[in-house]
Amino acid sequence: MQTTILGKTGLRVSTIGFGAWAIGGTNWGPTDDAISKAALRAALDRGVTLIDTADVYGFGHSEELIAAVLSERGKGEVIIATKAGNDFYHAQNEDDAGYGPIRQNMAKDYIIWAAEQSIRRLKVEALDILQLHSPDTNRLDRDEPWEALSILKKAGKIRFAGWSVQSFKETEQAFLLQRYHEVIDTLQVRYNILEREAERVLLPMAQQYGVGVIVRIPLLFGLLTGKFNRQSRFSSDDHRHMNLSPEKLENYLDQLEKIEPLYARYPDQSKAQVSLRFCISHPACHVAIPGAKTPEQVADNCAASDFGPLTTEDLAILG
Ligand SMILES: NC(=O)c1ccc[n+]([C@@H]2O[C@H](COP(=O)([O-])OP(=O)(O)OC[C@H]3O[C@@H](n4cnc5c(N)ncnc54)[C@H](OP(=O)(O)O)[C@@H]3O)[C@@H](O)[C@H]2O)c1
Repeated sequence: MQTTILGKTGLRVSTIGFGAWAIGGTNWGPTDDAISKAALRAALDRGVTLIDTADVYGFGHSEELIAAVLSERGKGEVIIATKAGNDFYHAQNEDDAGYGPIRQNMAKDYIIWAAEQSIRRLKVEALDILQLHSPDTNRLDRDEPWEALSILKKAGKIRFAGWSVQSFKETEQAFLLQRYHEVIDTLQVRYNILEREAERVLLPMAQQYGVGVIVRIPLLFGLLTGKFNRQSRFSSDDHRHMNLSPEKLENYLDQLEKIEPLYARYPDQSKAQVSLRFCISHPACHVAIPGAKTPEQVADNCAASDFGPLTTEDLAILG
């Protein structure tokens, strides 16, 4: 497993991390906690030192599973990056089809309170990284979450502050990044071989400010492993029934045909590995966090780290 320094945090992290959304047990179809724990153990055994989660994943369950597995061997150098701002604690009704009863809440007091709940569930004295969870940009000025992050840092309740940005809203985000970059230690962006919008503005700005970059959805919800086809369908308790709907799937699979010549250059590597190598090839990107449900997926994904970034010739094929 290769490692790198996560920007201005100075933290040394593995270039492949573990995305812990699916193991929370909601939004991705059924999961089995025993297999999820085995997947986490497999990641740690292979040298993964960054786990990305959120309070809302499984309504606390993802954080609890991580705490349980880390308690078996000690947390050591493992960095847990969690998130707050999707308020499931005060839900009134289940009206957020497929996503559970969640309200976005970026109010200063709420973020401080939510961080304390994550500290308790993760059984740590302080959170390594607390990220604002995909806030609407208009809330970021109004609701003072930046101040919450500064207060939490001063109080020793978080070590570093992050911003997991909403997908594809780069113009407003660039403005905010410019304004608040001193508060922001890490940025989490959606970036993969088919979705390269972050290259335009966010990644260059992150580099300019020395912000650590965490790459999410690096496998486009599993599509970039090559396992889905035009007939693939997802159950209603799997968010992919919307995010990889038949229309979206058609469109992505059309685009994927153009990537085949790149995959063909590496017949001994899985498509997941080549796709993950792409994500850690951009100089601004430090760690990709593929989600995984099983130890086998973890093994496949982690191997990408040692293959390293793609070559200049590889990237030229992509254009
Ligand atoms: N707003 C935000 O802040 C936000 C949003 C999204 C994600 N994230 C973070 O980013 C992480 C990664 O994104 P993601 O999990 O949404 O998508 P992803 O990493 O692109 O895809 C993960 C899914 O692909 C499948 N998979 C993974 N490795 C595989 C392999 N080697 N072979 C075959 N299938 C494989 C698994 O699902 P199946 O086995 O069911 O196919 C897995 O759950 C998340 O876990 C979360 O931590 C953050």
